[in-house]
Amino acid sequence: MPARIITIMNQKGGVGKTTTALNLGAALAELGRRTLLVDMDPQANLTRGLGISHEEVSAGKSIYDVMIDHKVELAAAARPTRWENLTIVPSHIDLSGAEIEMVSMIGRELRLKRAMGALAGSFDYILLDCLPSLSLITVNACATATEIFVPMQAHPFALEGLGKLFEVLDLVKAEINPELDLTGVLVTMFDNRTNISREVMDRLTAHPRLGGKVFKTVVRQNIRIAESQGAGVPVIHFDRSCHGAEAYRALALEVEAQRLGANDAGGQKTTSPAASAPSTPPVASAGS
Ligand SMILES: Nc1ncnc2c1ncn2[C@@H]1O[C@H](COP(=O)(O)OP(=O)(O)OP(=O)(O)O)[C@@H](O)[C@H]1O
Ligand SMILES: [Mg+2]
Repeated sequence: MPARIITIMNQKGGVGKTTTALNLGAALAELGRRTLLVDMDPQANLTRGLGISHEEVSAGKSIYDVMIDHKVELAAAARPTRWENLTIVPSHIDLSGAEIEMVSMIGRELRLKRAMGALAGSFDYILLDCLPSLSLITVNACATATEIFVPMQAHPFALEGLGKLFEVLDLVKAEINPELDLTGVLVTMFDNRTNISREVMDRLTAHPRLGGKVFKTVVRQNIRIAESQGAGVPVIHFDRSCHGAEAYRALALEVEAQRLGANDAGGQKTTSPAASAPSTPPVASAGS
């Protein structure tokens, strides 16, 4: 089966993109799936979340080298992590200047796709963590991926700016990558004590383009998630039994079910699976 290349995007900042790339990736790796994480954000939070320091990144190649130098393949920047089946292409602050350096580059929208080379054949999942803007780097991620996951915070403004995201998706589909599809919406930082969280969930599941794509798994607010990132360890290894770890493990199973085409197990292809989430406990909440 070819690798699923999934870009995790939302131009809204702080909605859980990096947290999802990191912890979904770690949970898929734990299931034995060969997983590559590509940090495409100059903030390098994903890189840092795996305990890799700026100095370690500077000592080798990063996504920055891949983007600006057509002789550098993605494989040259990929490095193993402390966890089995989990590989990362780290990011570097220099990536913030890459857009300007790429302005005169021929085929600049397809740079990442070209750099992928045969590497995709070595993985089951490739997760691309995008920065919170619809930039050339994000366009590169969209040109390379076959799927988009959109994490959304359960917040009143969550659906704002979605029109822009669909605009970009439709444009990329028409001009660069007809295979790209939005296949998952993940609600993060959910607080089932608040009406707002439940209202956002209801609006999401009623949305004409998102409703049927909302994952059954909902990630609730959990301080252990933030702490694990500070410690440079995915939450599923940092505190195996916290509900954040359970949520990301449940999400990995749902994502796997999509891959295996299990229509009834994944919640993707049934009608509005998350419609019941506000009234029934989220998948991962049992026992935590
Ligand atoms: N479920 C959660 N519970 C508590 N804190 C969380 C949760 N998910 C993410 N966070 C925290 O919220 C902050 C923002 O998350 P994250 O960095 O994943 O968002 P992002 O969308 O990648 O942000 P950016 O747009 O800046 O790249 C981080 O400090 C993270 O640790
Ligand atoms: Mg991020």
